[in-house]
Amino acid sequence: MIKTWSYIEEYKVLRKKILGSIDRTLKSGQIFFGKELQKFEKRFIKKNNFKYGLAVGSGTDALYISLLGLGIRSGDEVITVSNTAIPTVSSIISTGANVKFVDIDRYYLLDVNKIKKCISKKTKAIIPVHLYGQSCDMEKICKIAKKYKLKIIEDCAQAQGAKFKNKFVGSFGDVGCFSFYPTKILGAYGDGGFVSTNSIKLYKKMKRIRFYGIEQNNKKNKYDNKYYANEHGTNSRISEIQSSILNLKLSHVNSWIKQRRKLAKIYTHELKDTSLKLPVENIDCKHVFHLYVVYHPKRDKIIKKLEEKNIHVNINYPFPIHKMKAYRNKALNKSNYLPITEKMANGIFSLPLYPKLKVSEVLKISKILRKILLKI
Ligand SMILES: Cc1ncc(COP(=O)(O)O)c(C=O)c1O
Repeated sequence: MIKTWSYIEEYKVLRKKILGSIDRTLKSGQIFFGKELQKFEKRFIKKNNFKYGLAVGSGTDALYISLLGLGIRSGDEVITVSNTAIPTVSSIISTGANVKFVDIDRYYLLDVNKIKKCISKKTKAIIPVHLYGQSCDMEKICKIAKKYKLKIIEDCAQAQGAKFKNKFVGSFGDVGCFSFYPTKILGAYGDGGFVSTNSIKLYKKMKRIRFYGIEQNNKKNKYDNKYYANEHGTNSRISEIQSSILNLKLSHVNSWIKQRRKLAKIYTHELKDTSLKLPVENIDCKHVFHLYVVYHPKRDKIIKKLEEKNIHVNINYPFPIHKMKAYRNKALNKSNYLPITEKMANGIFSLPLYPKLKVSEVLKISKILRKILLKI
């Protein structure tokens, strides 16, 4: 059985080191906000060329904390895409703001030419989602945001290490939001997330929000301030154990991204000239291939045949958010406004891709897929 993703092979390689670091961390007696977290935050900031950053409980929390930090609230409007993971949108709705969806382009990403139509007096922010591991056109998005005074929150959950014009995602907008969910480019063995920013003021605010609104490390009034909320916050942190695992894995991320790109290139080579629509890497981007997403109008038949051959694929995502019961009444756009998103949702599927997937497995999947495509 070839799965879309597996951490077992990776764990086998890192097992000794991971168990050692868990043991060391537990012996230190520090559960939260200790040396491992400090070290991880510092290294993640440096690696991605951010000025400031904070680890938080999940990618979902990262988005929610960013929106709160930027003052997004009830009555405001936020622009994003419907072809994304649920949390991109649920975090907007959690603040009380409304969402306006923009259609996608040939890269499956927010179509920058359709943003302006969605802007109203109530629009406060835009969330470009660097979906599948490729950056949106951040140059154009930044230009529009500047002109209309919109905040930018980059959803980098699937794109850690991706670049636009040689600059890392997460460093263009007001905030960048990352996820360390286990399947991600850098995954913990549990939940985790990160917010990056170049603003010290926003950094400090988000730091309070992640810890019940309390000003941490306030030396002046240590005892007075320890249980005193300066503003409304939440609880969103990652443990020392998860931080120590992330510290370990961070050293491998570059080689894992290299391997993902290598495997993606093999798929592209092996599947060219078939009826599949293959992913396109924008020449301004460095794609990190969190997912290798292809499109075919006869997707369901293809998936069935692949499963008969013990090859498991995934669909990211079968339902656009604006079609879901929870959100269909929340979108502010009029009907029939996302034709490409809707068409793609009916035909996209993600082939197995993770750093420990073997080249021989990619070749095998491609060969089987080619045979299936000839017959349908
Ligand atoms: C595009 C996108 N945004 C946000 C998230 C939320 O991340 P998390 O699962 O860590 O809460 C995810 C994760 O699935 C995602 O893929």
